[in-house]
Amino acid sequence: MTNVNLTVNGKPVRRDVPDTTLLSDFLREDLRLTGTHVGCDTSQCGACVVHVNGKAVKSCTALAVSLDGAEVTTIEGVAQGRELHPMQAAFNDHHALQCGFCTPGMIMSGIDMVNRYRAAGKDLDAETIRHELEGNICRCTGYHNIVRAIEDAAARIQGADAPAHAA
Ligand code: FES
Ligand code: FES
Repeated sequence: MTNVNLTVNGKPVRRDVPDTTLLSDFLREDLRLTGTHVGCDTSQCGACVVHVNGKAVKSCTALAVSLDGAEVTTIEGVAQGRELHPMQAAFNDHHALQCGFCTPGMIMSGIDMVNRYRAAGKDLDAETIRHELEGNICRCTGYHNIVRAIEDAAARIQGADAPAHAA
């Protein structure tokens, strides 16, 4: 057991954790944050993506004890109160899910993708989004609406950040 201090969705968390516990299991079983899904446990599907210190990470690939001091955000932590994150709103508006199993990972990867491209001052077009999503598998949707949702969310986030024009 190792004592671990994390910030999860803005709240401090301190726990004794077995050294072999994966972050995905820690989130789901210790903290009951079951929005993070586990589809493969072998780093293939992307259903378990969360943000660690602001970057997308497959939580089935990280040991909880290796993240002492880290800030972790899960799908439960991206909305602002009752207001959906623009990525969540775009997935809803574009019907970008069917069974929903992949959706938390898709949304967390999508947010990370938009943040990275904006920080680099690069455009995020449909072809780039498809390439970026190679680590996230969806067995239902055929990806078209997921790509549209991420494109739309990128535009919404960009628009929200644009300076207001003087009247
Ligand atoms: Fe982590 Fe599939 S459960 S990549
Ligand atoms: Fe079912 Fe993506 S919506 S796996």
